[in-house]
Amino acid sequence: MATKQTVKDIRQRKGSGQKISMLTAYDAPMAMLLDQSGIDILLVGDSLGMVVLGLDSTVPVTMDQMLHHATAVSRGAGSALVVGDMPFGSYLVDPRETVRNGLRFLKEAGCDAVKLEGGRKVCDDVRALVRAGVPVMGHLGLTPQTAGQLGGFKVQGKSMAAGRRLLADARALEEAGAFALVLECVPGRLAEVVTRAINIPTIGIGAGPHCDGQVLVTNDMLGLFERFTPGFVKQYLVIAPQIKEAVAAFQDEINSGVFPAPEHTFGTDEDFSTLLGE
Ligand code: KIV
Repeated sequence: MATKQTVKDIRQRKGSGQKISMLTAYDAPMAMLLDQSGIDILLVGDSLGMVVLGLDSTVPVTMDQMLHHATAVSRGAGSALVVGDMPFGSYLVDPRETVRNGLRFLKEAGCDAVKLEGGRKVCDDVRALVRAGVPVMGHLGLTPQTAGQLGGFKVQGKSMAAGRRLLADARALEEAGAFALVLECVPGRLAEVVTRAINIPTIGIGAGPHCDGQVLVTNDMLGLFERFTPGFVKQYLVIAPQIKEAVAAFQDEINSGVFPAPEHTFGTDEDFSTLLGE
Protein backbone atom coordinates (compact mmCIF):
# COMPACT_ATOMS: atom_id res chain seq x y z
CA MET A 1 0.00 0.00 0.00
CA ALA A 2 1.22 3.54 -0.78
CA THR A 3 2.38 5.59 2.19
CA LYS A 4 -0.10 7.98 3.79
CA GLN A 5 -0.10 11.48 2.30
CA THR A 6 0.55 14.21 4.83
CA VAL A 7 -0.17 17.91 4.76
CA LYS A 8 3.60 18.43 4.49
CA ASP A 9 3.76 16.14 1.40
CA ILE A 10 1.01 18.14 -0.28
CA ARG A 11 2.70 21.44 0.51
CA GLN A 12 5.99 20.18 -0.83
CA ARG A 13 4.39 19.37 -4.19
CA LYS A 14 4.55 23.10 -4.95
CA GLY A 15 7.08 23.56 -7.72
CA SER A 16 7.87 19.82 -7.83
CA GLY A 17 6.26 19.41 -11.24
CA GLN A 18 3.98 16.69 -9.85
CA LYS A 19 0.36 17.89 -9.88
CA ILE A 20 -2.02 17.28 -6.96
CA SER A 21 -5.25 15.33 -7.61
CA MET A 22 -8.28 15.83 -5.37
CA LEU A 23 -11.81 14.41 -5.68
CA THR A 24 -14.81 14.62 -3.39
CA ALA A 25 -16.02 11.58 -1.46
CA TYR A 26 -19.02 11.18 0.81
CA ASP A 27 -18.99 7.48 1.79
CA ALA A 28 -16.59 4.64 2.52
CA PRO A 29 -16.96 2.51 -0.66
CA MET A 30 -16.30 5.47 -2.98
CA ALA A 31 -13.43 6.65 -0.76
CA MET A 32 -11.91 3.17 -1.08
CA LEU A 33 -12.24 3.17 -4.90
CA LEU A 34 -10.78 6.65 -5.29
CA ASP A 35 -7.97 5.90 -2.87
CA GLN A 36 -7.09 2.66 -4.67
CA SER A 37 -6.96 4.68 -7.92
CA GLY A 38 -4.20 6.82 -6.44
CA ILE A 39 -6.00 10.08 -5.65
CA ASP A 40 -3.88 12.35 -3.41
CA ILE A 41 -6.69 14.07 -1.48
CA LEU A 42 -10.26 13.05 -0.65
CA LEU A 43 -12.38 16.11 0.05
CA VAL A 44 -15.54 15.52 2.04
CA GLY A 45 -17.08 18.57 0.41
CA ASP A 46 -20.21 20.27 1.62
CA SER A 47 -21.31 19.75 -2.00
CA LEU A 48 -22.65 16.71 -0.12
CA GLY A 49 -25.79 18.80 0.43
CA MET A 50 -26.51 19.07 -3.28
CA VAL A 51 -25.17 15.84 -4.80
CA VAL A 52 -26.08 13.43 -1.98
CA LEU A 53 -28.68 15.00 0.32
CA GLY A 54 -30.85 16.53 -2.43
CA LEU A 55 -30.64 20.11 -1.12
CA ASP A 56 -30.68 23.17 -3.41
CA SER A 57 -27.52 24.67 -1.91
CA THR A 58 -24.73 23.94 0.55
CA VAL A 59 -26.06 26.48 3.07
CA PRO A 60 -28.28 24.15 5.17
CA VAL A 61 -25.57 21.46 5.57
CA THR A 62 -24.85 20.86 9.27
CA MET A 63 -21.77 19.87 11.29
CA ASP A 64 -23.47 16.57 12.21
CA GLN A 65 -24.09 15.70 8.55
CA MET A 66 -20.50 16.56 7.62
CA LEU A 67 -19.06 14.53 10.51
CA HIS A 68 -21.30 11.55 9.70
CA HIS A 69 -20.04 11.39 6.09
CA ALA A 70 -16.44 12.38 6.90
CA THR A 71 -16.23 9.47 9.37
CA ALA A 72 -17.28 7.05 6.63
CA VAL A 73 -14.76 8.53 4.16
CA SER A 74 -11.94 8.26 6.71
CA ARG A 75 -12.81 4.59 7.23
CA GLY A 76 -12.59 3.96 3.46
CA ALA A 77 -9.44 6.01 2.86
CA GLY A 78 -6.00 4.44 2.80
CA SER A 79 -3.12 6.66 1.72
CA ALA A 80 -5.09 9.73 0.59
CA LEU A 81 -5.20 12.84 2.76
CA VAL A 82 -8.77 13.36 4.01
CA VAL A 83 -10.02 16.95 4.18
CA GLY A 84 -13.36 17.81 5.81
CA ASP A 85 -15.28 20.88 4.59
CA MET A 86 -16.40 23.17 7.40
CA PRO A 87 -20.10 23.89 6.71
CA PHE A 88 -21.66 27.35 6.56
CA GLY A 89 -22.00 28.82 10.06
CA SER A 90 -19.45 26.50 11.65
CA TYR A 91 -16.77 29.23 11.42
CA LEU A 92 -16.62 33.03 11.32
CA VAL A 93 -19.19 33.30 14.12
CA ASP A 94 -17.12 32.73 17.26
CA PRO A 95 -13.40 31.84 17.01
CA ARG A 96 -13.64 29.35 19.89
CA GLU A 97 -16.56 27.62 18.18
CA THR A 98 -14.52 27.52 14.94
CA VAL A 99 -11.68 25.72 16.72
CA ARG A 100 -14.07 23.32 18.48
CA ASN A 101 -15.70 22.46 15.15
CA GLY A 102 -12.36 22.08 13.38
CA LEU A 103 -11.08 19.76 16.10
CA ARG A 104 -14.22 17.59 15.76
CA PHE A 105 -13.28 16.84 12.13
CA LEU A 106 -9.91 15.49 13.33
CA LYS A 107 -10.90 13.85 16.62
CA GLU A 108 -14.34 12.41 15.78
CA ALA A 109 -14.28 11.98 11.98
CA GLY A 110 -10.62 11.02 11.53
CA CYS A 111 -9.90 13.79 8.97
CA ASP A 112 -6.38 15.08 8.42
CA ALA A 113 -7.36 18.69 7.72
CA VAL A 114 -10.31 21.02 7.17
CA LYS A 115 -11.27 23.42 4.38
CA LEU A 116 -13.11 26.70 4.76
CA GLU A 117 -14.26 29.38 2.34
CA GLY A 118 -13.20 33.03 2.21
CA GLY A 119 -10.18 35.32 2.16
CA ARG A 120 -8.97 37.97 4.61
CA LYS A 121 -12.18 37.78 6.64
CA VAL A 122 -11.47 34.16 7.66
CA CYS A 123 -7.78 34.63 8.44
CA ASP A 124 -8.28 34.95 12.21
CA ASP A 125 -10.15 31.63 12.11
CA VAL A 126 -7.40 30.03 10.01
CA ARG A 127 -4.76 31.23 12.50
CA ALA A 128 -6.75 29.92 15.46
CA LEU A 129 -7.28 26.51 13.83
CA VAL A 130 -3.62 26.15 12.83
CA ARG A 131 -2.55 27.18 16.36
CA ALA A 132 -4.81 24.43 17.74
CA GLY A 133 -3.19 21.89 15.40
CA VAL A 134 -5.86 21.75 12.69
CA PRO A 135 -4.34 22.05 9.19
CA VAL A 136 -6.41 24.33 6.94
CA MET A 137 -7.05 24.44 3.20
CA GLY A 138 -8.43 27.76 1.95
CA HIS A 139 -11.05 28.30 -0.79
CA LEU A 140 -11.26 31.47 -2.93
CA GLY A 141 -13.08 32.63 -6.06
CA LEU A 142 -16.59 31.24 -6.27
CA THR A 143 -17.40 30.30 -2.69
CA PRO A 144 -20.70 28.37 -2.87
CA GLN A 145 -21.68 29.01 0.78
CA THR A 146 -21.90 32.75 0.01
CA ALA A 147 -22.80 32.49 -3.69
CA GLY A 148 -25.85 34.70 -3.01
CA GLN A 149 -23.59 37.60 -2.00
CA LEU A 150 -21.46 37.02 -5.11
CA GLY A 151 -24.48 37.31 -7.42
CA GLY A 152 -24.92 33.57 -7.97
CA PHE A 153 -22.77 30.76 -9.31
CA LYS A 154 -20.64 33.01 -11.54
CA VAL A 155 -17.00 33.30 -12.55
CA GLN A 156 -15.15 35.49 -10.04
CA GLY A 157 -12.13 37.80 -10.41
CA LYS A 158 -12.82 38.90 -13.97
CA SER A 159 -11.73 42.55 -13.53
CA MET A 160 -8.28 43.85 -12.55
CA ALA A 161 -9.69 45.16 -9.23
CA ALA A 162 -11.32 41.82 -8.41
CA GLY A 163 -8.11 39.99 -9.40
CA ARG A 164 -6.09 42.24 -7.09
CA ARG A 165 -8.47 41.50 -4.19
CA LEU A 166 -8.29 37.77 -4.84
CA LEU A 167 -4.48 37.85 -4.90
CA ALA A 168 -4.44 39.78 -1.60
CA ASP A 169 -6.79 37.15 -0.11
CA ALA A 170 -4.53 34.33 -1.32
CA ARG A 171 -1.44 35.96 0.20
CA ALA A 172 -3.31 36.57 3.46
CA LEU A 173 -4.39 32.91 3.69
CA GLU A 174 -0.82 31.75 3.10
CA GLU A 175 0.39 34.15 5.77
CA ALA A 176 -2.31 32.89 8.17
CA GLY A 177 -0.99 29.33 7.81
CA ALA A 178 -3.17 27.62 5.18
CA PHE A 179 -1.30 24.71 3.58
CA ALA A 180 -3.12 24.83 0.21
CA LEU A 181 -5.80 26.79 -1.55
CA VAL A 182 -8.78 25.87 -3.75
CA LEU A 183 -9.39 28.36 -6.57
CA GLU A 184 -12.93 27.94 -7.90
CA CYS A 185 -14.29 29.50 -11.10
CA VAL A 186 -11.69 32.18 -11.78
CA PRO A 187 -10.10 33.07 -15.13
CA GLY A 188 -7.19 30.79 -16.01
CA ARG A 189 -4.80 33.74 -16.33
CA LEU A 190 -5.63 34.98 -12.80
CA ALA A 191 -5.24 31.45 -11.36
CA GLU A 192 -1.82 31.27 -13.03
CA VAL A 193 -0.73 34.58 -11.50
CA VAL A 194 -1.97 33.60 -8.01
CA THR A 195 -0.24 30.22 -8.34
CA ARG A 196 3.04 31.94 -9.17
CA ALA A 197 2.64 34.56 -6.43
CA ILE A 198 2.17 32.26 -3.43
CA ASN A 199 4.26 29.48 -1.90
CA ILE A 200 1.43 27.08 -1.10
CA PRO A 201 -0.22 24.85 -3.74
CA THR A 202 -3.32 26.02 -5.56
CA ILE A 203 -5.92 23.40 -6.47
CA GLY A 204 -8.21 24.56 -9.26
CA ILE A 205 -11.80 23.81 -10.17
CA GLY A 206 -12.86 25.81 -13.21
CA ALA A 207 -9.58 27.72 -12.90
CA GLY A 208 -7.56 26.49 -15.88
CA PRO A 209 -4.46 24.33 -16.25
CA HIS A 210 -1.84 26.37 -14.38
CA CYS A 211 -2.84 25.51 -10.80
CA ASP A 212 -0.67 23.10 -8.81
CA GLY A 213 -3.52 20.59 -8.76
CA GLN A 214 -7.10 19.98 -9.85
CA VAL A 215 -10.29 19.02 -8.02
CA LEU A 216 -13.70 17.92 -9.30
CA VAL A 217 -16.88 16.80 -7.61
CA THR A 218 -16.77 13.02 -8.14
CA ASN A 219 -20.52 12.74 -8.83
CA ASP A 220 -20.08 15.31 -11.66
CA MET A 221 -17.04 13.68 -13.27
CA LEU A 222 -18.64 10.24 -13.16
CA GLY A 223 -21.94 11.50 -14.59
CA LEU A 224 -23.79 10.37 -11.49
CA PHE A 225 -25.50 13.70 -10.75
CA GLU A 226 -27.95 14.64 -13.50
CA ARG A 227 -29.61 17.81 -12.17
CA PHE A 228 -26.95 20.05 -13.76
CA THR A 229 -23.31 19.85 -14.79
CA PRO A 230 -21.12 22.96 -14.53
CA GLY A 231 -19.42 23.92 -17.80
CA PHE A 232 -15.90 23.37 -16.42
CA VAL A 233 -16.58 19.72 -15.58
CA LYS A 234 -15.16 16.97 -17.76
CA GLN A 235 -17.23 13.80 -17.49
CA TYR A 236 -14.86 10.83 -17.57
CA LEU A 237 -17.83 8.48 -17.31
CA VAL A 238 -21.59 8.95 -17.68
CA ILE A 239 -22.89 6.31 -15.36
CA ALA A 240 -26.48 7.47 -14.63
CA PRO A 241 -27.98 6.01 -17.86
CA GLN A 242 -26.22 2.70 -17.19
CA ILE A 243 -27.73 2.59 -13.68
CA LYS A 244 -31.22 3.22 -15.11
CA GLU A 245 -30.72 0.48 -17.74
CA ALA A 246 -29.60 -1.99 -15.07
CA VAL A 247 -32.62 -1.20 -12.88
CA ALA A 248 -35.02 -1.56 -15.86
CA ALA A 249 -33.44 -4.96 -16.68
CA PHE A 250 -33.91 -6.05 -13.04
CA GLN A 251 -37.59 -5.11 -13.18
CA ASP A 252 -38.10 -6.92 -16.52
CA GLU A 253 -36.40 -10.05 -15.23
CA ILE A 254 -38.47 -10.11 -12.04
CA ASN A 255 -41.62 -9.93 -14.15
CA SER A 256 -40.45 -12.53 -16.68
CA GLY A 257 -39.11 -14.89 -14.00
CA VAL A 258 -35.56 -14.83 -15.41
CA PHE A 259 -34.32 -13.57 -12.04
CA PRO A 260 -33.62 -15.18 -9.66
CA ALA A 261 -32.20 -18.14 -11.63
CA PRO A 262 -31.20 -21.47 -9.96
CA GLU A 263 -27.69 -20.13 -9.31
CA HIS A 264 -29.18 -17.32 -7.21
CA THR A 265 -31.40 -19.69 -5.20
CA PHE A 266 -30.39 -21.72 -2.10
CA GLY A 267 -31.06 -25.46 -2.36
CA THR A 268 -31.60 -28.27 0.19
CA ASP A 269 -32.30 -32.02 0.05
CA GLU A 270 -35.64 -31.54 1.79
CA ASP A 271 -38.85 -31.33 -0.27
CA PHE A 272 -40.87 -28.86 1.77
CA SER A 273 -44.05 -29.32 -0.33
CA THR A 274 -45.27 -31.86 2.26
CA LEU A 275 -45.63 -28.94 4.66
CA LEU A 276 -48.62 -27.79 2.59
CA GLY A 277 -50.59 -30.87 3.64
CA GLU A 278 -49.95 -30.44 7.38
O1 KIV B 1 -17.80 21.20 -1.51
C1 KIV B 1 -17.05 20.89 -2.42
O2 KIV B 1 -17.18 19.83 -3.07
C2 KIV B 1 -15.99 21.83 -2.78
C3 KIV B 1 -15.25 21.59 -4.06
C4 KIV B 1 -16.08 22.05 -5.19
C5 KIV B 1 -13.91 22.24 -4.06
O3 KIV B 1 -15.76 22.76 -2.08
